[in-house]
Amino acid sequence: MSAPVAIVAAMHEELSALLAQMPDEQRVRAAGRDFWIGHLHGQPVVAVLSRIGKVAAAVTATVLLERFGVRAIVFTGVAGGLAPGVNVGDVVVASELLQHDLDASPIFPKYEVPLMGMARFTADAAIADALSVVATQVLSDPAALIGRQALDEFGIEAPRVHRGLLVSGDRFVSTTAESEALRRDLPDALAVEMEGAAMAQVCHDYGVPFAAMRTISDRADDAAHGDFARFVVEVASRYSLALVSAWLAALPLSGETSAAT
Ligand code: ADE
Repeated sequence: MSAPVAIVAAMHEELSALLAQMPDEQRVRAAGRDFWIGHLHGQPVVAVLSRIGKVAAAVTATVLLERFGVRAIVFTGVAGGLAPGVNVGDVVVASELLQHDLDASPIFPKYEVPLMGMARFTADAAIADALSVVATQVLSDPAALIGRQALDEFGIEAPRVHRGLLVSGDRFVSTTAESEALRRDLPDALAVEMEGAAMAQVCHDYGVPFAAMRTISDRADDAAHGDFARFVVEVASRYSLALVSAWLAALPLSGETSAAT
């Protein structure tokens, strides 16, 4: 039997949507969290809520690796769009992740993780490729996914999938001044969130594949706090469920072989 994959959600609503699809989940309590062990689309999985922020993400990843021996970690959640054209309702699949609030300069270059000599952590290319493919399929019919009313409510028209740099920090970016500063300092950053790069660093340390996909819930500007809670329920949790389900359904079952990860 193959090792499980970990599905990590940032929000309760996303996790409960996934758990509702797991026929056999069992709860294991560790580090003050509930880890749900079971199957989704025939694949052994561990699903967990990371909680919010980089430390919470790092603890969650470490427990997944040490205690549950997962063979890969996929993070699903929301992010604020930074790059022009990364709009509410779009999906960003990370190819690289960086901590935008890490700065030990002048001793080390800004953003570099001290003593690691690196600032950017690479997401697993095969998983990111597979997630990009399923995201493009899932977003091709947004009305079927979230309903016409939610599309109108959140101003979503033709949602797109982007691939590139995702930046993380222990701040909800909710002023236009801060998002402009991030765009200036990190011009290739597509979106900002609060966990991904921390989890990517832990996975790098353990040599285990990591990937992240984020639904854009806001533009990280003065309006960012808007309808956040409703967006998570009505849009992001449906995207997460559809994307994770489609990705898992396309994975070879234990014992089968395929070039796909
Ligand atoms: N997650 C969703 N939107 C965000 C934002 N604006 N800043 C940080 N994390 C986020």
